[in-house]
Amino acid sequence: MAYKVKKYFKLDAKFAQSLVDIIAAELNQNVIIWDNHGVIIAAYIRERISSLHECSVLMLKSGKIQEFAVTDEDEKRYRGVRKGFNVPVLIEGYCVGGFGVTGEPDRAAPYARLAAHFVQAALESNLRKEKLMHALQEKRKLQSTLLNKMIEVQEEERRKISRELHDETSQSLTSIIVGLWMLAEQMDDPAKKEKIVVMRNLVAKTLDDVHCLALELRPVLLDDLGLVAAAERYVENYSRQYGIKIDADFASLSQVRFKPEVEITLYRILQETLTNIVKHAKATHIRVALQSGRGKIKLTVADNGIGFNTEALSYLAATNSLGIHGMRERISLLAGEFKIRSTKGTGTAVTVEIPWPKKKEEAGSRSGSGRRRPKQEKRG
Ligand SMILES: Nc1ncnc2c1ncn2[C@@H]1O[C@H](COP(=O)(O)OP(=O)(O)OP(=O)(O)O)[C@@H](O)[C@H]1O
Ligand SMILES: [Mg+2]
Repeated sequence: MAYKVKKYFKLDAKFAQSLVDIIAAELNQNVIIWDNHGVIIAAYIRERISSLHECSVLMLKSGKIQEFAVTDEDEKRYRGVRKGFNVPVLIEGYCVGGFGVTGEPDRAAPYARLAAHFVQAALESNLRKEKLMHALQEKRKLQSTLLNKMIEVQEEERRKISRELHDETSQSLTSIIVGLWMLAEQMDDPAKKEKIVVMRNLVAKTLDDVHCLALELRPVLLDDLGLVAAAERYVENYSRQYGIKIDADFASLSQVRFKPEVEITLYRILQETLTNIVKHAKATHIRVALQSGRGKIKLTVADNGIGFNTEALSYLAATNSLGIHGMRERISLLAGEFKIRSTKGTGTAVTVEIPWPKKKEEAGSRSGSGRRRPKQEKRG
């Protein structure tokens, strides 16, 4: 949306009134400031302003933006009109309002001009601020759109590769394992048989690695059965792989599906926080909880590790430690909240909350429809 200068006449009310009062006291005359609709922003004596005000507004409405004087003759000729001097306030060539001072036009003019100049300067400063804010907002919107797009493309790519690994590569490796197993069974020569068994074990190990890779990239379970199933599997694997005890509490949401972007975001946050724990925390125990309530879904991952100074995070982000920064960004795209608390020697807790409007189309509880989540298939 293009920025509209015409919308802005945001003069601080106290500033406007002080300016009016100072000039009114100096000249012992009435003084007013009005906007381009004729609305009075500040006046010295409101009851006595109508005539000058109306003249000024008329001038504006006619499209004239030059300053003009209401003369002695005008005062005599038109009933209620008081002589004085009117000066427009111009912003970028557009008349956004005006400044009027009653009294002898020659005496009133320099005061009116000076005051209009002040008003103009104040408005221009406000306008610059507004423009900067507007540009910043536009930039943020664009950044969010780009980030969203990037995440979408990245997730789609991961989904494809993961499916391929899961459906094609794994199947081929499984066939090779079965073939090698049968071959080993038929082999009479113990040395050759041994070689085949070694080969088969190697392929089995490769199959395991492929499964882990597919799981890291994008678990098929996440799309098929949802966040809880995928998170349970991830936590289980992680605990086995790194020998860290995890208390996971997903029970209350085990039958629930969230919007795909919520599911993938929470899954990625679980991955990153658990990766951080194994990389940095030296923890022996982790607590993971997924809960809902008060229109929000909340994920907590807490460890009993060495902790760290969270104040250093902005410095760390500048030195290519981007995991926490990335989590924050992803959560803000969903209008959620990201918190990290850490105490040296005690551990770290990451909490994220995402709005979860319980509309039917946004969060379908499958237990309600009588459809239970199918049993998870075992890998291998
Ligand atoms: N659970 C944790 N326990 C202790 N320190 C942590 C923990 N999580 C994060 N940190 C500290 O915060 C820093 C920033 O974490 P962040 O995830 O942003 O970056 P990183 O893990 O270093 O790199 P990457 O960009 O690969 O994620 C880490 O380098 C580490 O010092
Ligand atoms: Mg990290």
